[in-house]
Amino acid sequence: MAICSLVITVAHSQTSDTSSDPSIAYLEKRGAATQLIVDGKPYLVLAGETDNTASSSLEYMNPVWPKLVKANLNTVLVGIGWDWIEPVEGKYDFTLVDGILDGARKNHLHLIFLWFGSWKNGLSSFAPDWVKADQQRFPRSLLKNGKSVEVLSTLSDANLQADTRAYTAFMEHLQKVDSKKHTVVMMQLENEVGLIGDSRDRSAAANAAFAQPVPVELTDYLQKNKETLWPDLRTLWETAGAKTAGTWTDVFGNSTAADEIFQAWNYARYMNHLAEAGKAEYPVPVFSNTWLVQPTDKEPGDYPSGCPEPLVIDIWKAGAPAIDINAPDVHLPNFSFWASQFQRANNPLFVPESSGDAGGAANAFYGIGQYAGIGYSPFGVNRVENWGEVRSVSNMPAPTAVENVPLAKAYAMLAQMTPLILDAQTKGTIRAAWLNTQQSTNDISVGNYVVHVDLLRNRRSGALAASLGFAIVISTGPDEYFVSGRNVQVTFSPNTPGPEIAGIADAETGRFVKGEWIPGRKMNGDDILLDYNQAEAAANNQSGSGLMFGADGPTVQRVKLYRYQ
Ligand code: DGJ
Repeated sequence: MAICSLVITVAHSQTSDTSSDPSIAYLEKRGAATQLIVDGKPYLVLAGETDNTASSSLEYMNPVWPKLVKANLNTVLVGIGWDWIEPVEGKYDFTLVDGILDGARKNHLHLIFLWFGSWKNGLSSFAPDWVKADQQRFPRSLLKNGKSVEVLSTLSDANLQADTRAYTAFMEHLQKVDSKKHTVVMMQLENEVGLIGDSRDRSAAANAAFAQPVPVELTDYLQKNKETLWPDLRTLWETAGAKTAGTWTDVFGNSTAADEIFQAWNYARYMNHLAEAGKAEYPVPVFSNTWLVQPTDKEPGDYPSGCPEPLVIDIWKAGAPAIDINAPDVHLPNFSFWASQFQRANNPLFVPESSGDAGGAANAFYGIGQYAGIGYSPFGVNRVENWGEVRSVSNMPAPTAVENVPLAKAYAMLAQMTPLILDAQTKGTIRAAWLNTQQSTNDISVGNYVVHVDLLRNRRSGALAASLGFAIVISTGPDEYFVSGRNVQVTFSPNTPGPEIAGIADAETGRFVKGEWIPGRKMNGDDILLDYNQAEAAANNQSGSGLMFGADGPTVQRVKLYRYQ
């Protein structure tokens, strides 16, 4: 079957301003998904983020680029520190930026720059010396104890203007050097913003702003979007009386949640200004990334207060419409939960930081397959040769040939399936499973069958044969699926009226080349037999046969089903 011949009939609506050049990357609502369009075509971001300062040295990056190619990345996320490009006020040096662009282009990679401007992980460590050393001119946030921390205040126009000048100069430079080549496909603005150490800024300017009424833009947004507000935010607002005017504590109650909302609003307004100014120069999509509230965090301030965590995403949407995506950095184990929190009608899923071990491979499949994700990007990709089966901080696994790390194999598969995946995202005909020993089974309703994805089991003993498995399931016809997975077995049950057992009519391995399916082996006999106990299988309306995907994958199979009673 020639996948490239699939006719894509979806409604399009562009969500980024590309007036200067329609082939500069932009986001577009296409049927059931919002997709990133690069060079006029939908694009799946198979990425990795380098360590914070890897990109501060072109020499360091030289041997990194070929590793990224071997790991089957198509995009790299690299930091650019404000102090690297404006070490002296008003004098910009883009040598590093040009060198990074050159390295990416020579290796046929796209780039997402991370603008480490006013804040990087809450702190302002990447601001130039002339900013950091002049607290009079560039005011900082103050904590309850009266101490200043190395965190620029959101409430200072001088801070905002200085960052805006630098970011705008950067984006103007990109416009000059990239608007024909389109190497840069998105920008991340700042990095994991938020105040650590207190629930809100206690500087004089912040105290004055906190005593003022909540801006009418925000109260209007709450009223207009009441039905779709994040449930906890809605409860907070309604518990305080669903007021449409009043101070922050009047509207959101007298707790640290009001402080967090105040911080979120002020970060959002500041960053919206930056995003708008940058887009006026070079209008690629912009996202923010967020630290996630850790299980041990009790209050905002334990985690960066104001960061776009689920409770306050609506505040960010109201305050920063120029930021296209609020993205989660998922360094916590329950990836599927966090992905579900960030994929919202007005917020497509993109994961700029997460793990790169076999769990990371599972995350990539899950985010892209279950939530029509734009892409995935594990953190520390310059060390990709150390990414084995399991992430270990204390014991760094022995380096592996890069092409053999689980993530590289997963990306190879996602790359060959990209046309089919992107088409299925628009049609809503793709789902995914992420399995481990706590959750070893997942029933997916897609197409005319419920697809049962289980962690691979030993056929005779029934014991689990793997501890982590994942799969993408795509319905391509009334009785046809493509399934790609690792360490899983897959069976089917009809979900439309008629005979109740699904038998395998035909299954085959294969691969996609330029979007076209090239069949490999026919799968039958031992390849599909899951259970010799036919009586029990029949009693459960099962055929006892299914698809199997071992540890060597992910691999892909095409299956045609038939039904019997
Ligand atoms: C999250 C930050 O956003 C990254 O820049 C990096 O410092 C990682 N944490 C480290 O795990």
